[in-house]
Amino acid sequence: MRDVFAPESARWQALVATFAEHARRAGYGLVLTPLIEHVEVFQRVGDSTDIVRKEMYDFDDKGGRRVAVRPEITAGLIRAYVEHRPATPWKAWTVGPNFRYEQPQAARYRQHHQLDAEIVGTADPDADVEIIALLDGFHRALGLQRRTLVLNSLGDSESRPAYAEALRAHLTAHAGDLSAQSRETLALNPLRVLDSKRPQDAEIIAAAPVTIDYLSPAATAHFERVQTGLRDLGISYEISPRLVRGLDYYTHTVFEFAGHSLGGAQNALGGGGRYDGLVEQLGGPSTPAVGFGAGIERILLACDAEGVLPGGHEQVDAFVVVTTEGTDALVLAAELRAAGVSADRAFGGRSMRAQMKAADRSGARVAVIVGADEAAAGEVTVRPLRGGDQQRVPRSDLVKHVKELLA
Ligand code: HAM
Repeated sequence: MRDVFAPESARWQALVATFAEHARRAGYGLVLTPLIEHVEVFQRVGDSTDIVRKEMYDFDDKGGRRVAVRPEITAGLIRAYVEHRPATPWKAWTVGPNFRYEQPQAARYRQHHQLDAEIVGTADPDADVEIIALLDGFHRALGLQRRTLVLNSLGDSESRPAYAEALRAHLTAHAGDLSAQSRETLALNPLRVLDSKRPQDAEIIAAAPVTIDYLSPAATAHFERVQTGLRDLGISYEISPRLVRGLDYYTHTVFEFAGHSLGGAQNALGGGGRYDGLVEQLGGPSTPAVGFGAGIERILLACDAEGVLPGGHEQVDAFVVVTTEGTDALVLAAELRAAGVSADRAFGGRSMRAQMKAADRSGARVAVIVGADEAAAGEVTVRPLRGGDQQRVPRSDLVKHVKELLA
């Protein structure tokens, strides 16, 4: 878990603002849901997933309810959808932290933050394309280039059992050579074995049957239409026949953007897919849906590596330096701020020298100084801090004068 300070936090703000603007332009509304839900909500993410089996921050609250801090956003959003039943298609975006008790490593944190978008209530493959295009457009707006969209289809309720059976047969035949962990997951859900990054499993996984060979005609048509849409939008992709993603709720399209500057298993800049069964599993009517989550920390690391989205500047325009008693520093700073000039000041009645040092450190371009002389004359001294002559002006002209200097 990390602490984020200024000026790094200014990049977070810029990132979220860019995403918010892209989501708004595409008709998504901001939705805020609780960080804590009944544990059953997240169990729908999949009993065989690492997230549910090993990584959840779950506990009994003081009322004796089993609850968990969210490991991902989608299940909570769908719980909210089922509870409030907004009109469909429901297009929602959100941003916030998620908690997974993972093995911490570079770009893998126990608290990470996601930007998330979902479309609930349509099975139209154009919605899959729109969701992918939203994430792609956001990456592009940031200037990210070194990334690949990888795509697969897991098929529908008709395709999936046949595939799961074929996969189970293959893995069972080679069970003796699989890692102990993969043998354990095989018993729960053969698809999860495909997530294994253990070298011992690599060869067996590479020889495993692939989902697209088992798609029903309807699932094939859906997948083809998604690809046509992507091509017509000029979004290039690669089909990755073993991409299954680490959550059990997916059907049809699954995708990830792999960042080339990020290492190995931590290279996903965002991922998602269709999940046509989750609404029903959470107690709603059968309702198709599609969405993605994108990790803020990883996107920022990729921006660093590609030299885009430069660090923010947490600088004020003006610094107020007052050496007299009284409330001049409070009043002048408030006046400047109300006029749209960012302003700061020192606290604690410090010496002129110490205050000027603080002004320098603040990065301000202008110091507004009030000493005994100025106070007696009803004036202020306005001193440019990056070259130029200082001037004494009537207090009533302060804002006008500072704005001229800043311009
Ligand atoms: P996910 O693939 O588990 O999907 O997470 C989405 C993104 O969050 C990843 O691609 C990655 O960028 C980031 N991420 C995940 N775990 C970590 C971590 N430990 N440290 C840093 N970043 C991380 C979901 O959570 C789904 N709810 C996405 C979705 C929405 N599917 C449909 N709708």
